[in-house]
Amino acid sequence: MSFLQLNHVSLGFGPPDNRTEVLRDINLSVEENEFVAVIGFSGSGKSTLMNILAGLQRPDSGDVLMDGRPITGPGPELGIVFQNYSLLPWLSVTGNIELAVSRVFPQMSRAERRAHVARYVEMVGLSHAADRKPRALSGGMRQRVSLARTLAMQPRVLLLDEPLSALDALTRANLQDEILRIWEQDKRTVVMITNDVDEAVLLADRIVPLTVGPEATLAESIPVDIPRPRDRTALNHLPAFRKLKHDTTQLLLSFRRESARRARALPPLPDIAPADFSTGRRIIPSRPAA
Ligand SMILES: Nc1ncnc2c1ncn2[C@@H]1O[C@H](COP(=O)(O)OP(=O)(O)OP(=O)(O)O)[C@@H](O)[C@H]1O
Ligand SMILES: [Mg+2]
Repeated sequence: MSFLQLNHVSLGFGPPDNRTEVLRDINLSVEENEFVAVIGFSGSGKSTLMNILAGLQRPDSGDVLMDGRPITGPGPELGIVFQNYSLLPWLSVTGNIELAVSRVFPQMSRAERRAHVARYVEMVGLSHAADRKPRALSGGMRQRVSLARTLAMQPRVLLLDEPLSALDALTRANLQDEILRIWEQDKRTVVMITNDVDEAVLLADRIVPLTVGPEATLAESIPVDIPRPRDRTALNHLPAFRKLKHDTTQLLLSFRRESARRARALPPLPDIAPADFSTGRRIIPSRPAA
């Protein structure tokens, strides 16, 4: 059995009589220390999938397992970087990270904790803003705090929900390199959501495409057979890298075409027939039962 496992997971939102199934029959197996990138369009259900993996949302059906045990709620072994940063507004950059660290490593001395936090603040390039509150940070800076906070908790599984999407290209590239370096040095299981094909191919062992919702499901994985350590400059000259990018992009575009085709298809018409109000009878027989 794989380390992380989703078996036949489905989840919908809305009341029972008007429910939209966002995810349908999701099956995913992630090996220990594997780096998996889930890629999909906006609104397809990626964050919902992440919340299920983090134990924050229970699926309507199916099993979610880590190390063979059901994931029934959030915990320190599952570190999630949320798409919307979710920092405590009354705490500084250091304070936000320190709070999380002290909950996961209560045995650390104050001095050890300070040094540990400072290392991660520096890693994401925020030493100069360590004492600032979230309101005095840009979106990208908040995203970096959120990433540093989760990394500092050293969870067994890192769940990254588009952790770099609010960053400018240069900072994004820096942090991609940093994530790559951290993961190559200190292996752990990573599931990263991204909408960036280049990022997925650069970082992951395997790309798992999510089809367009509703009723989104995971398509067949695309293995990224590019040796590590990876170097972004060298990769750009590698034909295998370019082919993977091309194939993944084409696959995603085919999902979009299929979704557009489905949307254009005529919706099923209700089984109604005009009535002759003078007699109260139908003048056209309704469709015979199938
Ligand atoms: N709590 C909720 N109640 C009702 N609908 C929801 C809820 N959470 C998500 N949805 C719907 O589920 C679908 C998937 O949402 P989700 O946030 O998982 O998408 P996403 O792929 O992460 O999108 P993005 O790339 O924009 O972050 C959307 O149509 C959204 O409106
Ligand atoms: Mg999302």
